[in-house]
Amino acid sequence: MAYLIRGEPAPGRPEGAIEEDRSLPRACVVGAGSCGIAAAKALYEARIPFDCFEAGPVVGGLWKFENPNGLSGAYSTLEMNTSGPRMSYSDFPVGTDDYPPHQVVAEYFDRYVDHFGIRETITFNTRVEHVAPLGDGRFEITTSSDGLRATGTYDAVLVANGHHWDPRWPEPPFPGGFDGEQMHSHDYRRPEQLAGKRVLVVGGGNSGMDIVRDAADFGAAAFLSLRRGVHVIRKRLGRKRKPIDQTLAPPWLPWTLKQKGFELMRIRSGDVSDYGFDEPDHKVGHAHPTVSDEIHDRLGAGAVKPKPNVRELRGDRVLFEDGTEEHVDVIVYCTGYKVSFPFFDQGFTSAPDNDLPLYMRTFHPDVEGVYFLGLAQPLGAIMPIAERQAKWIAELLTGSYRLPSKEEMRAAIADARIAHARRFYKSKRHTMEVDFDEWMRDSERELRAGRRRREVREA
Ligand SMILES: Cc1cc2nc3c(=O)[nH]c(=O)nc-3n(C[C@H](O)[C@H](O)[C@H](O)COP(=O)(O)OP(=O)(O)OC[C@H]3O[C@@H](n4cnc5c(N)ncnc54)[C@H](O)[C@@H]3O)c2cc1C
Ligand SMILES: NC(=O)c1ccc[n+]([C@@H]2O[C@H](COP(=O)([O-])OP(=O)(O)OC[C@H]3O[C@@H](n4cnc5c(N)ncnc54)[C@H](OP(=O)(O)O)[C@@H]3O)[C@@H](O)[C@H]2O)c1
Repeated sequence: MAYLIRGEPAPGRPEGAIEEDRSLPRACVVGAGSCGIAAAKALYEARIPFDCFEAGPVVGGLWKFENPNGLSGAYSTLEMNTSGPRMSYSDFPVGTDDYPPHQVVAEYFDRYVDHFGIRETITFNTRVEHVAPLGDGRFEITTSSDGLRATGTYDAVLVANGHHWDPRWPEPPFPGGFDGEQMHSHDYRRPEQLAGKRVLVVGGGNSGMDIVRDAADFGAAAFLSLRRGVHVIRKRLGRKRKPIDQTLAPPWLPWTLKQKGFELMRIRSGDVSDYGFDEPDHKVGHAHPTVSDEIHDRLGAGAVKPKPNVRELRGDRVLFEDGTEEHVDVIVYCTGYKVSFPFFDQGFTSAPDNDLPLYMRTFHPDVEGVYFLGLAQPLGAIMPIAERQAKWIAELLTGSYRLPSKEEMRAAIADARIAHARRFYKSKRHTMEVDFDEWMRDSERELRAGRRRREVREA
């Protein structure tokens, strides 16, 4: 079990370790990726007794290249697409203004847990196998470690198991049969896997852009198949090549004006449809951002060949919707991920087609005591959002914040869904999309409102 603070600092734990307050609810954090460690820190600082279980031997989750947990889809050429100042936790800068590569990101999370004395609160190599509501507001949690099972009872469960580890393959699969290699982007590790091969990449998200670039640089041929046109914005723009997420409009501007900012970035980036893809069926800013500094140039040079959707797999060839056919050795499906909670019973909480309506992407109005971290697709980085969610949940557990009523939460969710449907085109990749700056502003406002609600109730 995790280290519980009983006055004496544990070996390696900084002097003055904070003592837990056993009168507070007892919490369990599932996972110690970038969101789980933010949760552990907030609970620790709020003196909430907790265990943080991590299936693998390290923190950082996805960002730990070749993480022994077997769940990380990081590849050797991966860098963040959210720049340093945007992805840093509020009290611990990553130390670069640019987009950090995966090694720097993983090291950053390591430094974070050591700096704040959090590592000792995490129980490594321990998987949460089952979370069962006991019916009295508490949960029985079963964990496994080295084949041994253990159970514990908790008042709150903070879910931070990540949502980019369960690959989504094309549904339904493309018709026909393929004799070559087929892999999901989750299993792509390094460009050498593509060396000398004729590679077809399917999907127009950020995985697709990165991997088709690697295919162009290392393979014998690179094809990119898109089922709809995409806007691809360059990651750095202007003479100083400033990361684009440092030039976004403030959250208070109306969307119509903010959208003009996106349009400007699109124009400065250039349209990939100029190279043979379909025109997008949506405006820029109305999809999860696809960013790349290289794809326009690779397309321009003919190193990446544009293709429409796949019609049929034909042995060692692939037939596309425009009737063209190509000889292909390997297909890399960059078709996104499923949101999965293997430790919940299906009837308790699940996210069919990635859809799990939550109040402020954190609180389920009908499932008290279970809170979600990082279960959002931000137009921005997830780490500061998780940090805010963690502090928010800690305030709820210590009683200094009160949630709105269930009815109010349901109404807010319904409003958010309407606004969301107006902006983002319908796709399983868009079920959890949030605008980073707006979410940060709204969550700050709600925290203040909830503290007032609590004071009014106390009075
Ligand atoms: C290729 C790629 C690039 C990305 N780039 C960016 C980016 O640039 N910026 C950005 O903000 N986001 C990016 N993302 C999104 C990514 O999800 C987040 O960056 C971040 O990894 C989310 O952190 P997390 O803690 O939620 O999940 P993870 O990093 O996946 O960590 C989850 C942790 O939970 C543990 N765990 C899982 N199940 C259990 C269990 N049952 N019991 C115990 N432990 C468990 C895992 O072992 C893991 O350590 C990217 C995603 C992908 C796929
Ligand atoms: N730091 C980085 O540089 C980096 C790199 C990779 C990934 N990421 C992040 O990781 C997350 C996942 O990205 P992702 O690119 O793996 O997935 P994604 O954003 O979900 O994109 C999936 C793509 O596959 C397409 N697709 C899905 N099913 C398909 C089908 N049956 N046939 C054809 N096309 C299909 C989708 O098209 P539709 O749009 O039509 O649904 C979409 O273009 C995102 O948050 C992303 O930003 C970041």
